[in-house]
Amino acid sequence: MMDDSVAKAREAIRDARSIAVLTGAGISAESGIPTFRDAMTGLWARFRPEDLATPEAFQRDPRTVWDWYAARRAQAADALPNAGHRALAALEEACAARGAEFILVTQNVDGLHHASGSRNVVELHGSIRRVKCFDNGHPASSWDPDGAPPRCLACGAMLRPDVVWFGEVLPGGALDAALRAAAKCDVLLSVGTSGLVEPAASLAFAALEAGAAVIEVNPAATPLTPHVTLALRGAAGEILPRLVV
Ligand code: APR
Repeated sequence: MMDDSVAKAREAIRDARSIAVLTGAGISAESGIPTFRDAMTGLWARFRPEDLATPEAFQRDPRTVWDWYAARRAQAADALPNAGHRALAALEEACAARGAEFILVTQNVDGLHHASGSRNVVELHGSIRRVKCFDNGHPASSWDPDGAPPRCLACGAMLRPDVVWFGEVLPGGALDAALRAAAKCDVLLSVGTSGLVEPAASLAFAALEAGAAVIEVNPAATPLTPHVTLALRGAAGEILPRLVV
């Protein structure tokens, strides 16, 4: 049954002229980075997003928010890409070799796709490895490590992580690129995402509407599962290497 679905997925990927991949926190779980919504272990099972991941929370308590993201930044810096990340980098190479299009759209802010050699990556929710100032968006390449939060050298405003918080708009270019890819691809691979957060959650449906095959890789069912072409039940690090030819 599973082998059959994996074989079908591999064939669809091998024959595709245009592949789009959407990843979520699940692909980094095997690198030791907690997901957001997995019971008990997920970040939102332990912390309240409204206390840590909104501009209002930052204005209310900048120190706590800065420290929380600093801890997550250190965790991401220590983490290594896993077999799932590496398989997607290899798939991008295989597509390039046969002239097929490939784009990787991620909701993750950990930078592990780049670290594993992926190149055509769209970071929909920004990156925890980047910092900018709260008032004017000035990028900061260095900051006072004792500042909590440190201040922008250009305007003196508080620095914040360059990630998209709840209630904030996504980077325009990133969302446009993701929507274009979803509308154009032959195959969309949805990997390690609960499909609960918009607008990322709409990308697979946009691909289905455009006639693409959607393949979901996740150990658990999601709201997307009843709609997909193939649902591959398991961990990204185990399944993705079996899909790359
Ligand atoms: N391989 C594949 N999928 C996995 C694995 C694994 N090893 N482990 C867990 N998963 C799945 C879970 O079953 C779940 O469906 O990954 C999914 C993780 O879901 P979430 O924690 O909701 O993460 P995500 O979908 O990326 O969240 C979207 O929400 O909090 C915001 O901005 C944050 O980008 C994030 C967005």
